[in-house]
Amino acid sequence: MEKSVEVRFPEDFCWGAATASYQIEGATTEGGRGPSIWDTFVAQAGTVLNGDTGDTAADHYHRFREDVRILQQLGIGNYRFSIAWPRIQPTGTGAANAQGLDFYEQLVDTLLAAGIQPWPTLYHWDLPQELEDAGGWPERDTAYRFADYTELVAERLGDRVSHWWTVNEPWVVANLGYATGEHAPGRRDHAAAAAAIHHLLLGHGLATQRLRSVVAEPSCAVGIALNPQPIRARTSSVADLDAARRIDGTRNRIFLDPLYYGRYPSDVCADLADVTDFSFVRDGDLATIASRLDFLGVNYYNSALVEAAPAGQDPDNAVPLGHTGVRDVPRPVPRTDQDWEVDASGLTELLTRITVDYPETALYVTENGASYRDEPTANGEVHDPQRLAFLDSHIRATHAALEAGAPVRGYFVWSLLDNFEWAFGYRERFGIVYVDYSTQQRIVKDSGHWYSGITRTGRLPA
Ligand code: NOJ
Repeated sequence: MEKSVEVRFPEDFCWGAATASYQIEGATTEGGRGPSIWDTFVAQAGTVLNGDTGDTAADHYHRFREDVRILQQLGIGNYRFSIAWPRIQPTGTGAANAQGLDFYEQLVDTLLAAGIQPWPTLYHWDLPQELEDAGGWPERDTAYRFADYTELVAERLGDRVSHWWTVNEPWVVANLGYATGEHAPGRRDHAAAAAAIHHLLLGHGLATQRLRSVVAEPSCAVGIALNPQPIRARTSSVADLDAARRIDGTRNRIFLDPLYYGRYPSDVCADLADVTDFSFVRDGDLATIASRLDFLGVNYYNSALVEAAPAGQDPDNAVPLGHTGVRDVPRPVPRTDQDWEVDASGLTELLTRITVDYPETALYVTENGASYRDEPTANGEVHDPQRLAFLDSHIRATHAALEAGAPVRGYFVWSLLDNFEWAFGYRERFGIVYVDYSTQQRIVKDSGHWYSGITRTGRLPA
């Protein structure tokens, strides 16, 4: 982690960049795409900063060839992107929309021709609206529909894609989508959020099995991308330690325990007793969820410091599951422009903790990055020293985990491009490539040039 030390990654370490469909594609009504919950959500007043929408985004749907060229020029050999379910099944069920499959096939073929490995994510939050109308992720049927959709994609792309991510950040989908309402579909119902967690995990397990039934192993490796977080207690008082245990339960263990051990943690079930009795769990579900993981994806942005707080501060219950009676404690540390605390050490802690607490699985940092709102200078360059320093410290933290014995096999920067940052719209810029949304011109930022050097050498100089 010491900046003055040179670090070298193994030669086969996988360097990549990540994006997601709704955040970059635009063209939301083209190619036979049906409406997603995000199209519906952004159309409601007050949901997204400045009323921004993903209608055009970074226009990647029309410019994907240029974006693949940028990846190639930067020497980034791995690209994690997501497939928009409503492009494949406009209403979430039934036969595939050929134009949707064609689009992703062209993207994959363009990547492969450029020597770049595709790492598609099957669900990065754009649920077909009709499935939400039928109840969304709190409904068990959505998990089965997800497996059917996965099969359609696997049948078309399985002969050339060998790494798959099922669901991205089920914590966010369930909690921000169904508990706090900050994300689509904007519901505030803790019982629904708890059921959503189970059905997202079940969907992951069913999709994993379906992928393996369509694409023969070993050319089909599957994982899930979570956003686990180190949770620290403000003091060692019993109340604060218990608050940290509870948040660790609903942020981390409620996903990792069923995935690895086929059971929900009993303390978390007890903590959530007021919300749910887990009667949505049916015989065989946990075995499905615990289908072997070929790798685990870790999206990391920061750690959290929490303390116990008087309950009842959120009368409308607009907090994530388990957060009643807990407060986040701000720390006097550097922050990104989005006001997120920066804590690189948390990434080492997280990767090593997962290695100790769960059976060994290849780990990938599937997302890591920061929003700084840098703009081009008069001569058209984008200097983003803070993002560069952020990435430098977090890549060193990844290396420290590797040195400490965590089986970390890759790192994907979030994000290749500036994009639609959900409820924050276009204000936040996470890209290593700047996007001018008025012209759709791309400019590689200083951090992008710097990252290119890392991907080519696998080395961070002293
Ligand atoms: C996690 C999400 O997967 C991604 O969509 C989002 O843009 C980044 N975090 C930054 O918030």
